[in-house]
Amino acid sequence: MTSDFLKYQAQTSTHPLAMEVSHAKGSYIYDTTNKQYLDFVAGVSACPLGHNHPKVVSAIKEQLDKYMHVMVYGEYAQQPAVALSKLIASQLPEPFEKTYLTNSGTEAIEGALKLAKRATGRSEIIAANKAYHGNTMGSMSVMGFEERKQAFRPLLPNVRFIDFNNSAHLNQITEHTACVILETIQGGAGFIEPTNGYLEKVRTRCTQVGALLILDEIQPGIGRTGKLFGFENYNCTPDIIVTGKGLGGGMPIGAFTASSALMDLLQDNPKLGHITTFGGHPVIAASALATLKEIIESRLMQQALEKEALFRKLLVHPLISEIRGKGLMLALILPDAEKVNHLILTAQNQGLILFWLLFEPKAVRITPPLTISNSEITEGCQTILDILDQIIDD
Ligand SMILES: Cc1ncc(COP(=O)(O)O)c(C=O)c1O
Repeated sequence: MTSDFLKYQAQTSTHPLAMEVSHAKGSYIYDTTNKQYLDFVAGVSACPLGHNHPKVVSAIKEQLDKYMHVMVYGEYAQQPAVALSKLIASQLPEPFEKTYLTNSGTEAIEGALKLAKRATGRSEIIAANKAYHGNTMGSMSVMGFEERKQAFRPLLPNVRFIDFNNSAHLNQITEHTACVILETIQGGAGFIEPTNGYLEKVRTRCTQVGALLILDEIQPGIGRTGKLFGFENYNCTPDIIVTGKGLGGGMPIGAFTASSALMDLLQDNPKLGHITTFGGHPVIAASALATLKEIIESRLMQQALEKEALFRKLLVHPLISEIRGKGLMLALILPDAEKVNHLILTAQNQGLILFWLLFEPKAVRITPPLTISNSEITEGCQTILDILDQIIDD
């Protein structure tokens, strides 16, 4: 299969891991030789309930037996999408009421940026250096990493970049600014948390000048940081919330949520201000609904913090200078990229899945399913420590 994978499936990774996947269950993925891999990555934060959670699988199967795609987004009332949007609203403070469901995170970012322009009549967008919001043209325009953008220019005009956590840069947000878009916790940059009331200060400045605040919760959202939405940790409420990844419970999804007053603008001048064929797909929405219900009704969010504490207690090693992040969104910082590569590749050989972060070569991603058990955490951490010991011995 690997040779066909490399020959027929377009590759953009220079070194794909190329594991031949057979099946997956709970915290484990199995390859075609039936070797099991403990998953500390969860499809890059996209499988909060692990693999093939029985409640998610049965919700999908039940919906499959009723109907799949029947109409483009927003024309027919379809129970899974309606119930999902209502459940999201029930978990948010006023005035968040309406959710637009998309097929991916980046598409939800596009919708949010369009909504901010439409609502303010302004075109300037402010984003953060080292930000990652997706790979379509609008999202890429607000990506704060020039090296990955240069070949694709021209991108959106009128985008300015500020340093995340630098309050001195906030005066660049002005009456010309349509929106400020930030990840609540910067992901690709190395799991950088907002500090010193930064998000609160951004909120205040946006309100002062009439700019909208968009928080990208695609990675920190849906329980990973101990709260349903990451921003609940930082005393800051945005105008538009963008979610994705874990919301789908292993199925492709994105969503942006705002007040009715804002969202209704997409109905008018022009009408059909954002359209999609498959957004809100009933099978995907059924999977997301089952996932979100399980996360809200279980203790998984509180446990994310207890499990973070266990990771931090176990992962003490001279080669780990720092563990960044919150809850089950953690990054080990090693001395250099070579050691990171060695750890990730050796761990995979030994049956433990770890991964890189986009823009921080010294970081090792640990974003396991929220359902991971304490004994699985202990087992995986021991593998990491053994490999790091070996690096020192060599
Ligand atoms: C913070 C953040 N925003 C946006 C995206 C894009 O989401 P998607 O890959 O579903 O388009 C990602 C994906 O990694 C992300 O981590």
